[in-house]
Amino acid sequence: MNTSLLKNVKNEFVSKFESEPVMVFSPGRINIIGEHTDYNDGFVFPAAVDKGIVAAINKSDSDSCTAYASDKEETFLFSLKNLDPLAQGSWQNYLLGVVAEIQKIGKSVGNFNIVFGGNIPVGSGMSSSAALENSVVFGLNEVFKLGLSKHEMILISQQAEHNHVGVKCGIMDQYASMFGIENKALLLDCRTITSESFEIDFQHHEFVLINTNVKHSLSDSAYNDRRSVCESVAKMLNIPALRDATELDLASIKDKISPENYQKVRYVIQENERAIAASKAMQQGDLAALGKLLYASHEGLQNQYKVSCDELDFLVGQAKLNEHVLGARMMGGGFGGCTINLVAKDGAENFKTQASKAYKAQFNRECSIYDVKLSQGTHLLT
Ligand code: GLA
Repeated sequence: MNTSLLKNVKNEFVSKFESEPVMVFSPGRINIIGEHTDYNDGFVFPAAVDKGIVAAINKSDSDSCTAYASDKEETFLFSLKNLDPLAQGSWQNYLLGVVAEIQKIGKSVGNFNIVFGGNIPVGSGMSSSAALENSVVFGLNEVFKLGLSKHEMILISQQAEHNHVGVKCGIMDQYASMFGIENKALLLDCRTITSESFEIDFQHHEFVLINTNVKHSLSDSAYNDRRSVCESVAKMLNIPALRDATELDLASIKDKISPENYQKVRYVIQENERAIAASKAMQQGDLAALGKLLYASHEGLQNQYKVSCDELDFLVGQAKLNEHVLGARMMGGGFGGCTINLVAKDGAENFKTQASKAYKAQFNRECSIYDVKLSQGTHLLT
């Protein structure tokens, strides 16, 4: 975690509100594999990273709440009696949503002040939104002694996103951000919301993230559309969620759904199998197999689930051209953000240079490259 970020957020709080805040760090996440499987009760394989949101928070004596987004230098005053969402896309909705969801389950918070800042690039597919939601719920839980468990907190964060932000997300991002473990990735069963941790120490290989620095609009509605296709097909199959379906089950209703939806559902079934296969490959130390699964995941996201974009496809194409890369795919919801690449450490510089140059030449835009450290989930800072 970045110590100057911590200092800045704390100093800003102290100078604005003249009291000592509770400090929270809440990380973003990567996802090795298992994309769009979480809201199908399936498996995902995320890890918390060392980039995230730092929040400073404490009770307020005034008759309203004040929030300050230090990256945007924006102040927002609100009353606990009116938590209605603002315009779509406003950062305030994450905050208002969390408070509203806390109230919905019958817990109450008093007036508070909060300052937050972060170092997760927005739109990178590393889930700055879950990090923000978790930092707020974790901070409020601490300040107002709400007695919420971490599981209750992530459900509050997820509901905030559903009801105030309008994205019917799964539980992966909030879980990874809250429960992350240093140097480990979590194979999460999204039905039981329990995970198994895997030490990530590849010796000669590492994960490299490349951000396309694009986020195409309409991604939220495309996300919700995908989710409703999955739910309606699960209903047709008479099962609780696509996690319970096989390709054979799907074939039995092939003539009842459109070819596009057939491919989408087929993707989900296959991706769920890939997430499990990836955990086995890792257990066996078979990185070549893991790499192939990453490429296959991208193929599915691009051609079957159709949530990729030219920039992401181009970067995965660059990975395929480079002998040091074992596998690559788009990461997160899609339509922009990062690719995740499994690269030989001694070839990483070569790949980074090649991919950046080619990307610039193709799109006349810079990509950004991140090395991330797998880190602890949401926690208090002292
Ligand atoms: C977004 C959502 C997650 C998950 C991913 C796709 O990050 O918030 O719940 O569905 O997309 O895997």
